[in-house]
Amino acid sequence: MNNSYPQDQRDAVYRVIAERRDVRRGFRPDPVPADVLGRVLAAAHQAPSVGFSQPWDFIVITDRARRERIAALARRHAGEFAADLPGARARAFDQLKIESILDTPVNIVVSCDRTRGGRHTLGRHAQPQTAEFSSVLAVANLWLAARAEGLGVGWVSFFDERELAAELGLPAHLEVIAYLCVGYVTSFAAEPELQSSGWARRRPVSWAVHAEEFGHRGMPGEAPVDPLADLITAITPPDAEAMAAAAERQDRMTKPRGSLGVLEDVSVRLAGLAGSCPPPLPEPACVAVFAADHGVHAQGVSPWPQEVTAQMVANFLAGGAVVNAFAAQAGAEVTVVDVGVAADLEPVPGLLPRKIARGTADFTEGPAMTRDQAVAALVTGAEIARDLVAAGNRCLVTGDMGIANTTASAALICAFTGADPAEATGRGTGIDAATYARKIEVVCRGLARHLPASVAPARTPGPDSPDSPDSPGLVDPVGVLAAFGGFEHAALAGFILGAAALRVPVILDGVIAGAAALAAVALAPDAVAACFAGHRSAEPGHAVTLSHLGLRPLVDLGLRLGEGTGAVLALPLVQSAARALRDVATFDSAGVADKL
Ligand SMILES: Cc1cc2nc3c(=O)[nH]c(=O)nc-3n(C[C@H](O)[C@H](O)[C@H](O)COP(=O)(O)O)c2cc1C
Repeated sequence: MNNSYPQDQRDAVYRVIAERRDVRRGFRPDPVPADVLGRVLAAAHQAPSVGFSQPWDFIVITDRARRERIAALARRHAGEFAADLPGARARAFDQLKIESILDTPVNIVVSCDRTRGGRHTLGRHAQPQTAEFSSVLAVANLWLAARAEGLGVGWVSFFDERELAAELGLPAHLEVIAYLCVGYVTSFAAEPELQSSGWARRRPVSWAVHAEEFGHRGMPGEAPVDPLADLITAITPPDAEAMAAAAERQDRMTKPRGSLGVLEDVSVRLAGLAGSCPPPLPEPACVAVFAADHGVHAQGVSPWPQEVTAQMVANFLAGGAVVNAFAAQAGAEVTVVDVGVAADLEPVPGLLPRKIARGTADFTEGPAMTRDQAVAALVTGAEIARDLVAAGNRCLVTGDMGIANTTASAALICAFTGADPAEATGRGTGIDAATYARKIEVVCRGLARHLPASVAPARTPGPDSPDSPDSPGLVDPVGVLAAFGGFEHAALAGFILGAAALRVPVILDGVIAGAAALAAVALAPDAVAACFAGHRSAEPGHAVTLSHLGLRPLVDLGLRLGEGTGAVLALPLVQSAARALRDVATFDSAGVADKL
């Protein structure tokens, strides 16, 4: 028996789901008739609830003086939130309207009584939070019914919950779940305002659907998603037409041709990546600092104890590291990703826990990681890129932390470029001659162990033939990453691929990001189009890497700190290049005579 609704009614159900919007603008002052409000509240009251406990209550507020007091509470919290935002985000937030408490004739508070239904509420004993979930479902019903009635609803969550509860006279055992502003509107937007304003984007549904186990993504009836293969397929060459338009516009801008030097190339590359001229401004920007530990540390390649990785992660999260200072100056957000720190890290805001394992194995004794771990780290990095772009970022910046990661980088660089270990290995954080000699020897031993003898270690590329076609780095980049890489290298490679697939620029920091970029480009050569070399590190392997990638560093200040510091310094340069292409007048538009 077919219990489905007739087609037109099904269409109506899907229509109300698709057209429900969080509304903050365009409210009309007309009152909401009592019968309409009653129907909407009755719909809310039909929501499912744990053990049928119906934990909700609805407080209907119309009194202007009360709404003014509540609006003042929301304004205070919005101000506190704004004070914490990095530059471009703060400017974008300023343009957003986040509440309509006084613009709407009715405000409705949905509360939750966690105690309702008593001790034996079916299903709540194991998951007490199901009480709150039930109240949220009442909100969802209310929201949908309101849309069908032509009423806009805007959810406001800029409150201290207890402060608001006191204003509403809520008993202590009740909590506020939602504060909703309700009224008739002139129109409903086709998409979330946060999407049209560029603050965030809707994630494709296929990213959210997993078959059987988390991580096996794919829509029902479709082949399971192979995230790495899909990522690689999604990376296509830059748009030649947009690049030509950008180059041509540069020539018409009110300045001597070529006078912006390298920044002209940057703007042309940004246009090619975005597929439009001018390209979007690369802001807001977010630095993702990928942190992990390295088994090769046991070989005595660094004077720093391994614990420093976790300690520096805490420092990044507390805002005390150089990258935090530089990011604050450049108006970028800093997020830290634990992909393999050999310590348990406390969950704190700003830390993304994505640990693949507690550090890699020592690559002089065996592969640093398994192939599955390398793929997992690559996919993790790509997902971070995706999430940061979905959260509204238009420029990604690489950062890294991992004691001993310059050793792993040197091995990766040798494997991918054929460079001599003596040429690619540097002094990292600063080591004495004996440690330096040991570090080179460790890299040689690793290469000898994992690469065929014919290509390791001294496979110096000639200017015309940088790599033999059968170089192991090109044949099996994942294998090379697994042999030598840190989890941060593999995740950074995925991050770069993720940025390239979304056609968002990624500014590379120093030698660690460079080594990761070699892996990314070996997997998907067109990924290089998304990469902008933030700086040239003092590490010798970095110059080798940049010339292999064909990237020109924007800043060359002898930095060798990592963390993302050099890349963040280059952020305003990349942004200025895009802004100049967008804002500078042309000879014809400004009525300025061109050179004869
Ligand atoms: C739990 C929750 C809290 C929210 N809080 C706010 C808020 O304080 N201010 C605001 O402008 N929007 C708020 N929203 C609305 C979301 O921004 C909005 O639902 C989202 O952008 C998707 O847009 P749409 O609802 O139109 O599909 C909230 C939404 C939810 C579900």
